[in-house]
Amino acid sequence: MESDFIEKINRQFADSEPIEVLKYFLKTYKGKIGFASSMGAEDQILTEMIVGIDPSARIFTLDTGRIFPETYDLIEKTNTRYKINIEVYFPERDQVEKMVVEKGINLFYESIENRLLCCQIRKTIPLKRALQGLEIWITGLRRSQSVTRTNMQMLEWDKLNNLLKLNPLVEWDEDKVWNYIRKKNIPYNALHDKGFASIGCQPCTKAIKPSEDVRAGRWWWENPEMKECGLHLKK
Ligand code: ADX
Ligand code: SF4
Repeated sequence: MESDFIEKINRQFADSEPIEVLKYFLKTYKGKIGFASSMGAEDQILTEMIVGIDPSARIFTLDTGRIFPETYDLIEKTNTRYKINIEVYFPERDQVEKMVVEKGINLFYESIENRLLCCQIRKTIPLKRALQGLEIWITGLRRSQSVTRTNMQMLEWDKLNNLLKLNPLVEWDEDKVWNYIRKKNIPYNALHDKGFASIGCQPCTKAIKPSEDVRAGRWWWENPEMKECGLHLKK
């Protein structure tokens, strides 16, 4: 049933622009829809579109406690530019303290297990809290971002969180993203001008060479097939 509905909607919007998709979903699911922004380039485009359609729509970000100063600056700048107040979700203090006491402050470099634990405590669990009461969440995921994302659809069922997931920019490539940002003068993370492509937490993100894959600077010490933090795993 759910999958028939998803297929039908994906067919219906196959040739639609992201703005049309957003208009439909923000209206149909008003009060039950939220946008998770990592403050990345794609997310900034979605914020601009969403605010233009419904300035009261929920927009939230997960502050892991390890994000870059430039990302905090961008939260401020975005709030001022669009006259919004992006909700900021933090991890549970007790869980972070226990993890750090048991495994160390920079545990993520030691094993994939440690890295996934840190992502779970600092991102996946707070995300679940942010999604409570929603029927659908919006993300900035794109198919061409990595080998783990090539089969994505615009509308999907999120089994981990038990709700619909909408990826309006699923088909956009890197050039389309940056052309749109420049055309509309959308604020973006200052780190993008210093060689950073995809930006997450400071200890797990580095600048890349222009020839590299956009997500090569994320958890760069891991195998590309493993590079998901748990927000978008398909279990
Ligand atoms: S990640 O899973 O590897 O961190 P990525 O940085 O590519 O994901 O972001 C993909 C999408 O996941 C973003 O467009 C956003 O919707 C969501 N997302 C990722 N990190 C966060 C965050 N810190 N806060 C809110 N949403 C996030
Ligand atoms: Fe922890 Fe790194 Fe995951 Fe951030 S990206 S939550 S610092 S492991």
